[in-house]
Amino acid sequence: MPGSKSVRWLFGLTALILLGVPITSAPQQSKPAAVGPAPSPTELASEQDHQRLMDLLHIKTIRPGADPNHPDAPNAVNYDESKANPFPTLPDPLVMKNGEKVTTAEMWWNKRCPEIVEDFDREVYGRLPTEIPRVHWQVTSQKKDSVGGLSVVTKKLVGHVDNSAFPSVTVDIQATLVTPATAPGSVPVIIELAFDPVLMRKLFERLAARGVKLPPPPPGPSWQQQVLAKDWGYAELLTTSVQADNGDGLTAGIIGLSNHGLPRKLDDWGALKAWAWGASRLLDYFETDKSVNARQVGVMGHSRFGKAALVAMAYDQRFAIGFISSSGMGGANLYRRNFGERLENLAGTGEYHWMAGNYIKYAGPLTPNDLPVDSHELIALCAPRPVFIGSGADKGDAWVDSKGMFMAEAAAGPVYELLGKKGLGTGQMPPVGRALLDGELAFREHSDGHTPAPNWPAFLTFAAQYLHAPSPRK
Ligand code: GCU
Repeated sequence: MPGSKSVRWLFGLTALILLGVPITSAPQQSKPAAVGPAPSPTELASEQDHQRLMDLLHIKTIRPGADPNHPDAPNAVNYDESKANPFPTLPDPLVMKNGEKVTTAEMWWNKRCPEIVEDFDREVYGRLPTEIPRVHWQVTSQKKDSVGGLSVVTKKLVGHVDNSAFPSVTVDIQATLVTPATAPGSVPVIIELAFDPVLMRKLFERLAARGVKLPPPPPGPSWQQQVLAKDWGYAELLTTSVQADNGDGLTAGIIGLSNHGLPRKLDDWGALKAWAWGASRLLDYFETDKSVNARQVGVMGHSRFGKAALVAMAYDQRFAIGFISSSGMGGANLYRRNFGERLENLAGTGEYHWMAGNYIKYAGPLTPNDLPVDSHELIALCAPRPVFIGSGADKGDAWVDSKGMFMAEAAAGPVYELLGKKGLGTGQMPPVGRALLDGELAFREHSDGHTPAPNWPAFLTFAAQYLHAPSPRK
């Protein structure tokens, strides 16, 4: 199963960020052609691919990202709130590009929403290709199981992507679905966009070899047990089976397969959009599985997968709710902020593959203030559906900038209100540990570091207002 408990608690480690350890996987495996030599994907290292995009953008240099390791460096990370808002004015989600005010739900859906989507597509996350090969889902195993003493049915799922147009790239999406064995009907399901447990194990071995001591797992039931205790199910999607988490892999995976092995154009999709696409395909499968109530499926992700979960929520109206954990820059945090990670970090060779090529230009010569959109508008694209944004207050999660995410969420409020819902209800950040759960926009900063674990109970309380297990049989 993607992500056992022992692996899961470990990614709460501050060390992941502070040691700057990349979490990468090998590019997708190529399979030999059946007849004659099939064309293979273009092989480019991330540095070469990044340079290729810089050339296409006619850029010679970009500003470096925030440096968390050298306090005296000119680009040392900023954790001083008085310097965190170099660009305090955000684009107004309720003003059209022509200056017209958006005053009705109809105007939002028909006019303003498409403008915002177009800007995110072209400049930030990239466009979906016009033709993406179809996915054929297969249940490869089904068995009765027990999780924390609760009886469940576990299904292993593989989504085979049709590669007949480019056979040298294979994409088999891997996921696991776990539902309560005694459910009287179809149940709500929370999809986690999961880290690859094999890669995580290797990473922790490397950390242990450097003498980094690992904290004990958090006490109490795992998030999976908490979800099952509500009589809901959960699913874990192995994101890197959709798209590798590095620039070298962009000519393989679903991005490479759709491009027939060629490098990306400047507005082609990046890995965040590809992972979000994978979540949508899993939801397609759920629409065919009677054990799942496909109208009550939530999407959850932490850190880079928190970014992807927010993209999935924003782009696919079928997701009923989102739990966006420590997503930071590229997720819920404002690009116009300078606290912890900056826009520039995501434009560098280690993370550019998450984004569209066009995004790089905002790290030079343009600035974050030149972006036509900001992340409050990505959150607004989720309206009117409920979204919970969470993070940690410990310095181990400072990099993701809780305040910036809170500000973005507050600034998405007017769109929720236009659609007849409630936003956060305040512009004042609540004290650490207090959850704001009264509107469709929810927020909580727990007191720990870079981990979603302490926020699961608050998220589930919030979600229980919207998701309902089937009533027991009479
Ligand atoms: C790095 C990166 C973040 C990302 C995080 C993670 O710290 O800078 O943007 O969210 O890794 O995914 O763990």
